[in-house]
Amino acid sequence: MLHLQQSDSATSNTPENIDEKRLTTMSPGSETRAMHDTLFLFGATGDLAQRYLFPSLLRLLGDGLLPEDFKVRALALSPHDTEAFREILRPRLQQAMPQASQDDIQSLLQRIDYRSVDLRDPQSVADSVRDLVHRQCVSYLAIPPGLYISTCEGLALGGALAAPARLMLEKPIGSDSASAEHILTTIGQWIDEDRVFRLDHYLGKAAVQNLIALRFGNTLLEAVWNRNYIESVHILVAESEGVDGRDAYYARSGALRDMVQSHILQLLCLVAMEPPASLEADRVRDEKVKVLRALRPLDAKHAARDSVRGRYTAGSINGQPAQAYQPPEGSDVETFAGVTAHIDNWRWSGVPFHLVTGKRLPERTTRVVVTLKPVTHWLFERPHRGNATPNRITFQLQPQENIELGLMSSLAGPEWGALELHPLELELSVPTGLHRRIAYERLFLDAFNGNHALFVRDDEVRAAWAWIDSVSEAWKAAPLPLQPYPAGQWGPTEAAGFLPADVDADAGRKDPA
Ligand code: BG6
Repeated sequence: MLHLQQSDSATSNTPENIDEKRLTTMSPGSETRAMHDTLFLFGATGDLAQRYLFPSLLRLLGDGLLPEDFKVRALALSPHDTEAFREILRPRLQQAMPQASQDDIQSLLQRIDYRSVDLRDPQSVADSVRDLVHRQCVSYLAIPPGLYISTCEGLALGGALAAPARLMLEKPIGSDSASAEHILTTIGQWIDEDRVFRLDHYLGKAAVQNLIALRFGNTLLEAVWNRNYIESVHILVAESEGVDGRDAYYARSGALRDMVQSHILQLLCLVAMEPPASLEADRVRDEKVKVLRALRPLDAKHAARDSVRGRYTAGSINGQPAQAYQPPEGSDVETFAGVTAHIDNWRWSGVPFHLVTGKRLPERTTRVVVTLKPVTHWLFERPHRGNATPNRITFQLQPQENIELGLMSSLAGPEWGALELHPLELELSVPTGLHRRIAYERLFLDAFNGNHALFVRDDEVRAAWAWIDSVSEAWKAAPLPLQPYPAGQWGPTEAAGFLPADVDADAGRKDPA
């Protein structure tokens, strides 16, 4: 294997280049507007806020990237007062950001006040924000989507959705087309689309944004990026974690709605979209939505050929026992989904996109594997044409960021040169993992600056749900059985055909715990 490393100087996160990074947004021009300076954070006691959102704000504050008079109002149901909330948050910040200084932690805590609020009661929401709406406000809803409408009604009542106020919404927007439509249109009465920022935190990951850089910054890739050269694409988002602790949400969601509808379809868009005319937010989003609209709906006839669903049973991961997932009575959700998507357009006609995700798989990995077609005429005796490994480009997005290029070469062959070819992996590993910002840092900054490029537009939400609905309806109509798989394996045996070639789908099968 050839191993190339990017030099450290190209990736360092020194204070001098932080400001440059801040300006390097995908929407040139947005950085000239004044930043919004007041955050209403709903769901402030929840896991997302405590583990990711507040630590992200701490990093941004420490790096001097937030406005001078930045203020957070933390909101949740619990009847804390501000002091009690700060004391709950302090150790969580220390734990999440052990390298943060006490001064920075104190500075963030001082900017936070807390209000208890009943999100089912619009009046309660309105009362909890009214005193701050004269400022430049951003409301962030890190709460179940079932509470979006009553919360937004309250925000509108309290004046917190009037221009120039902004709204940040976590995924999922609804649980199917109908519920998403209801949320979109109801909230749309109170706030214009150009002030709504729908998050998909995968878009905030630098490694995911790098897909755009690689595709459109390199002639080499774009030249072969079509049905003439590409045989298939795999998008795999594997997690070793289970459903743990999110049972109520997951029992209504499952892998298809939780992961494919959002993160995986966003990755698919970035891999498959046409080059946008510019990196301006709507030019990028126009191209993404075209991909979603070109997805061929799944039908019951093809459900078994083009999809697989599974649920983990007891097993073991890295030698540790893992319990089975047991959803409540009546829930039929999957923890593993594999779907072959077909993009019916000029560029991708005939190229299968295998989309796979699952919980309690042997390892955490997110990767996009692009397999190229065999060469048109094979000159070599060894290996026999049929045994040649096709060229493959692997974008490993997490946990490490890596690009691998699989070539055939005679470098490792005998002394007489090109008589015998062997697969050669060119690995470009980028030592950035430690420096990378939490996805939410980037997304916060962009929302405060009014840059929409990394947020999901309403028509993307609609188009994504339309396709997901076709999959879940096909599953019901077929019906497609839910296949069990022991925790620690690569999904059910039926999943093997959906996984990329570099995954050993049989690993551990003979030896379940
Ligand atoms: C969330 C899903 O959106 O993404 C979770 O709801 C999933 O089920 C998580 O575990 C994965 O995110 P990441 O950043 O850890 O890959």
